[in-house]
Amino acid sequence: MSLSETAHAKINLTLHVTGRRADGYHILDSLVVFPDAADTLSYVPSGSPLSLELTGRFGQTLAGEASDDNLVMRAARLLADGRDVEQTGRLILEKNLPVASGIGGGSADAAATLRLLDRAWELNTPTERLHSIATRLGADVPVCLAQKPALMGGIGEQLAPAPILPQCGMILINCGEPVSTPAVFRARTSTFSSAATFPAAWPDARAMATDLSHLTNDLEAPACEICPAIRTVLTTIAALPGCLLSRMSGSGATCFGLFVSAEAARAAKDRLGSNPAAESWWIHAGSLSF
Ligand code: C5P
Repeated sequence: MSLSETAHAKINLTLHVTGRRADGYHILDSLVVFPDAADTLSYVPSGSPLSLELTGRFGQTLAGEASDDNLVMRAARLLADGRDVEQTGRLILEKNLPVASGIGGGSADAAATLRLLDRAWELNTPTERLHSIATRLGADVPVCLAQKPALMGGIGEQLAPAPILPQCGMILINCGEPVSTPAVFRARTSTFSSAATFPAAWPDARAMATDLSHLTNDLEAPACEICPAIRTVLTTIAALPGCLLSRMSGSGATCFGLFVSAEAARAAKDRLGSNPAAESWWIHAGSLSF
């Protein structure tokens, strides 16, 4: 029987860089949410060694990486490590999310691999072990494992529950230029920020957007230096009718706009049809999924 998992994009509503470890990794303080945009990972049982096929709009972008180096295959190997399991079957990744774009696509795929193969291979891996494997795969993989809104600390491995979020709509726009995460961290020149404080809950999207507007994504300015098209996208989103907040996610280049509802976000997306720059952009309008 084939199985599948949805690998949701991750969005950093805020991202404060609060310090730097001796090994060069940065200490983050981030409110992370999951919109309805997602890749899909499927598993089809077979007697052959585990393989990975790529489909979807961005499948070709990763085609050179459908090798053992792919984060999906690395996740599979780490999951099987030390366990009595035949590493067989076909994985099919429908890559709908842009690659190297600040919305954790690769991390979400790796996390989905852990969830999917744990089921497919009937491993019943303890949650703490899944979390520790996720941490080894990348800073954003632990938060993608649960796919629940979270306050992320440390280099990404420390997770705490997020404030209770209101219903809201979200538009995501990527200008099509991949951005290197290490390069953006290196280009940072500002001093370290303090950790953000949040209320226990927000009554509605407007109240949330007002609070978030006083906070930042500290990687936005360095990312805009490296990729000026991000600035254009941010300005375009901010000018959309009903937009409550526009900001970049992660290390870019994807930016998001917050709206009161999915309908408001979709209506705003329709307005982009007349913008010639938008023809080459990846645009998604919807809501937060959890
Ligand atoms: O962990 P991940 O592979 O996603 O990180 C990619 C790169 O981003 C790291 O090699 C590091 O240069 C930078 N990074 C960082 N601090 C973090 C997360 C990532 O400096 N907390």
